[in-house]
Amino acid sequence: MRTSEVLASKDDAVTLDSTAERTTEANEDAGERPAGSQVVRAREIHYDYVSGGGSLPVLNGLSLDIAESEIVMLTGPSGSGKTTLLTLIGALRTIQRGSLEVLGKELACASGADRLTLRREIGFVFQTHNLLDALTASQNVSLALELKSVCRENRDKAADALTKVGLGHRLGHRPNAMSIGECQRVSIARAIVNRPRLLLADEPTAALDNKSTERMLAMFRDLVDAEGCSMIAVTHDPRTMDVADRIIAMDDGRLHPGTPL
Ligand SMILES: Nc1ncnc2c1ncn2[C@@H]1O[C@H](COP(=O)(O)OP(=O)(O)OP(=O)(O)O)[C@@H](O)[C@H]1O
Ligand SMILES: [Mg+2]
Repeated sequence: MRTSEVLASKDDAVTLDSTAERTTEANEDAGERPAGSQVVRAREIHYDYVSGGGSLPVLNGLSLDIAESEIVMLTGPSGSGKTTLLTLIGALRTIQRGSLEVLGKELACASGADRLTLRREIGFVFQTHNLLDALTASQNVSLALELKSVCRENRDKAADALTKVGLGHRLGHRPNAMSIGECQRVSIARAIVNRPRLLLADEPTAALDNKSTERMLAMFRDLVDAEGCSMIAVTHDPRTMDVADRIIAMDDGRLHPGTPL
């Protein structure tokens, strides 16, 4: 099903440049910036999923720069590789070809320990919320702070983060006793509780009503402006575009030039 979505997305796409030269130009327009205080620098990334003797190319020579204190919204058809790109940037997947520097660390040659260290500086809001059912909202958020002990200090930090996302009254609730929108906000609280330098969010507002969406977007903007972190959010939600510094469209594993803001 997903493979046909990829093929369908080619048909729906804005005309794709056919030559490598043009693709590079498109990437430069869309994602690459002059060297400076970049938190992400991707060059010619390729990524294939290999299964059952077959190989599915998902990222096809993608290049991208993300600067410090920048909020970038990443859009594109289903199956175009957005989540794959986010998980590569978040060091949750191993890069196969190309160069990917995140927070100054080249991931193409990083050890497992390097990737773990890097992941501690990154907050991740997953497309599926990935909360543990056996833990309360507070414990799920505390988990991001310290895997071994849920000490008083961590509990307070978790409570702060949950209050920021409007869930101060749900600290003791387990995921199965919360709405989907509340679970989404717990996963946002978990992503921000460590004060990450880079926030990666996959459809962070998909399950939220207008009021919660506004609150989350204002919080993301504050976080970026006050703490200088950067954010890449995959989104199809038009409500999120207002807080973007840049909107980048992706298709067929590459970037299209984003709409200038
Ligand atoms: N673990 C996997 N093994 C094999 N193929 C995969 C795997 N994960 C994703 N794919 C395929 O790779 C392609 C890109 O998937 P990805 O999840 O990155 O797309 P996406 O742009 O995030 O889509 P959506 O908007 O639906 O979330 C899809 O065709 C998908 O079926
Ligand atoms: Mg996805």
